[in-house]
Amino acid sequence: MRPETRLHDWLTRCEAALDAALPPADLAPIRLHSAMRYAVLGGGKRFRPLLVYGTGHCLGAKDEQLDAAAVAVELIHAYSLIHDDLPAMDDDALRRGRPTVHIAFDEATAILAGDALQTCAFETLCRAPVADPIARQMLSTLASASGAAGMAGGQALDMDATGQRQSLAALQRMHALKTGALIRASVRLGALVAQTDPATQQQLDEFADALGLAFQIRDDLLDIEGDAAELGKTAGKDVAQGKSTYPALLGLQGARAALLEQRQRMDEALSQISGDTDTLAELGRRASERTA
Ligand code: IPE
Ligand code: IPE
Ligand code: MG
Ligand code: MG
Ligand code: MG
Repeated sequence: MRPETRLHDWLTRCEAALDAALPPADLAPIRLHSAMRYAVLGGGKRFRPLLVYGTGHCLGAKDEQLDAAAVAVELIHAYSLIHDDLPAMDDDALRRGRPTVHIAFDEATAILAGDALQTCAFETLCRAPVADPIARQMLSTLASASGAAGMAGGQALDMDATGQRQSLAALQRMHALKTGALIRASVRLGALVAQTDPATQQQLDEFADALGLAFQIRDDLLDIEGDAAELGKTAGKDVAQGKSTYPALLGLQGARAALLEQRQRMDEALSQISGDTDTLAELGRRASERTA
């Protein structure tokens, strides 16, 4: 099967699994449940779930074993976007081509929807059809990638760095946490389900680290070069807000070169992995070349 076809099938699978994991909109508290569904459904590339399926597939896991992890990581991601857009953070009004959750609903509902999506992610992951010791490792992987040592910590560094010039090493660390941690966790969750060997795990971590950095460098570039309609979010916000980004530190050419470097790291890591790495390679390409 062509990687594009496989990815398309996983996308359909993931949409259905996300819908099923969320509380119904007609169940009280209706405003909260509606906001949760609004944030998660009807948009988004589902890049992290596709990575869970892509990694698991490469290592021989079955799609049914991967659904819970795919949903869980996307729920954490959706929560991170709601909070990222809040007035106290990036103060964004547009996300996935629609008003952000605090605009469509209200700020309190947006905060609570983020909180509830986070716990819904862990509830969902608890139901993964894997042996208990593996489930424990998966829960711990997602928890550390989401919290102070991962995404939330990276977001804190992002807030601290706003209006500041930081070293390349500090910028890289910030990106590795705020975006890289969940991307690395997506790959690790797929690998945990498949119970891969340590050598393969090491190459997968290398692939994921390069992928996470590439994904955020591309995001930084798109904020400058992207088309708002295609992006579904307001462009030009990073410069306006004094955000610390790759193009801000290295210029457009420097950021593009850094992205290419990560692309080569990804290809090199994948070449060391046996199994069908085609969908992972395609996801690497999409992360680096995406226009939305
Ligand atoms: C946007 O993530 C936030 C970043 C971490 C760069 P995505 O580009 O994956 O957003 P969606 O899920 O497709 O909307
Ligand atoms: C967000 O980075 C990373 C998250 C953890 C959500 P950005 O602030 O650059 O993401 P966008 O550009 O708003 O999607
Ligand atoms: Mg942000
Ligand atoms: Mg933002
Ligand atoms: Mg951005």
